[in-house]
Amino acid sequence: MLNEKIATMLNDQINKELYSAYLYLDFANYYADEGLDGFAHWYEVQAQEERDHAFMIRRYLLNNGVRVKFSAIEKPAKTFANHLAPLQAGFEHEQYVTSLITAIYHEAFGQKDYKTMQFLDWFIKEQGEEETNADDLIKKMKLFGGDAKGLYALNQELAARVYTPSATGPAM
Ligand code: FEO
Repeated sequence: MLNEKIATMLNDQINKELYSAYLYLDFANYYADEGLDGFAHWYEVQAQEERDHAFMIRRYLLNNGVRVKFSAIEKPAKTFANHLAPLQAGFEHEQYVTSLITAIYHEAFGQKDYKTMQFLDWFIKEQGEEETNADDLIKKMKLFGGDAKGLYALNQELAARVYTPSATGPAM
């Protein structure tokens, strides 16, 4: 059995990951509406990855005898001033998610819950990659998104992102 506090934190994290999927799908809605289908596609793929994260944590809890409980998913309440704004909001959101994962890791460390630490190792690495990806998008947008040709090319690049379910996943 998992420690109750750790189980609760992980259960809450399922909600945060599903919210992340919802948020990124909302970004995709915005870009689709703006005619930037490549950007929309990139965030659709990101939403699928976030859903996967939620499923992974749910599975870990179930494997450890925890009764998973769901709560309401927050409404994404974002309006965007320009095409850069969702990219910046995405980066900030990933930094927030990293802080949540780190807090669970910290709790697991304090309780010598090595199994959960091992499970979370995958997420720690994933968060590093997601922050880098989000930051790269901002840099590219600032460099190339300022004129129509650059924005068109960047849109084409983002359209090529392929969703690949994680081959390895976290240790269960
Ligand atoms: Fe599942 Fe983007 O954090």
